[in-house]
Amino acid sequence: MGGAGGRALADVFVTRRLPPETLAPLAGSARLRVYEDEARAVPRDRFLREAAEVEGLLVLLTDQVDVELLAAAPRLRAVSTMSVGWDHIDVAACTERGIGVFHTPGVLTETTADLCFALMLACARRLGEGERAVRAGRWPPWSPFAFAGLDVHRRTIGIVGLGRIGQAVARRARGFGMEILYAGPRRHAEAERETGARHVPLEALLAAADFVVLLAPLTPQTAGMIGAPQLARMKTDAVLVNVARGGLIDEHALEAALKAGRPWGAALDVFQHEPAPADHPLLALPNVVAVPHIGSASVATRRAMARLAAENLAAALRGDRPDACVNPQVFRLP
Ligand code: GLV
Repeated sequence: MGGAGGRALADVFVTRRLPPETLAPLAGSARLRVYEDEARAVPRDRFLREAAEVEGLLVLLTDQVDVELLAAAPRLRAVSTMSVGWDHIDVAACTERGIGVFHTPGVLTETTADLCFALMLACARRLGEGERAVRAGRWPPWSPFAFAGLDVHRRTIGIVGLGRIGQAVARRARGFGMEILYAGPRRHAEAERETGARHVPLEALLAAADFVVLLAPLTPQTAGMIGAPQLARMKTDAVLVNVARGGLIDEHALEAALKAGRPWGAALDVFQHEPAPADHPLLALPNVVAVPHIGSASVATRRAMARLAAENLAAALRGDRPDACVNPQVFRLP
């Protein structure tokens, strides 16, 4: 059967049910198979079976695209993920096989920065504890220091990874009158001009920041970058915020550090293993605020991400080069 302009339709597997209109960019150029469950990830055996037959995959961060899967997928040409992070994809192995990898930066920047601020405020002002107390009938008589926490405004934020989301967080921090530090491999001159952010070594950031915000990608270089020595540098009244990936933090070290009172609290959107079980030791600590990996979870943004993932895949299968390509080297391969 011919596609648009007589081109053959490419076989594509979509690993989760998504709003049909978000998949419209693939109409006319792809024959879609969709895993018809919205709430749960596709089982691995089904994923392997489907991957074996398709040229394109539209995946989520719950789907591991690893060497085993690639070996089972001889026709695969493009992997498009509905996420900005791509640590669930073995990009080097894709590149070796000439498979393009695409992601969804940009459309989730502001929404994720909003969540980052929500977490900072929730932890600093003890919203989780307060809410639990009210619901459980444990609302004490008003007293001067009941549920008293930390201020956010005019304090110092240290952003580890000043990419798109980090810069959006910095703009919000400016509105809160905060001093802004950042650490990372590169200087961002324009963001420095716009927000007044200062580039400092990670050690200096950890020692000076009242809010240490992790926004670095998870790579072999960043895995476990916040462990016992880094936590020991933080202030006793500082808050650690992670809206990136759980693997950046050594969770055992964080548990010990929080119990010892340094840092003051932690606000976590992500865990090393997700979903985190209810008996995860960090969840037993009152100074931890935890939410279930919802950084980009506004309806509008999740729709925009799904649509961009579909557009990227459609373009790649047409032979175009979408901007949001993780491994542009594949386009230079013979
Ligand atoms: C969410 O964590 C994403 O990578 O988009």
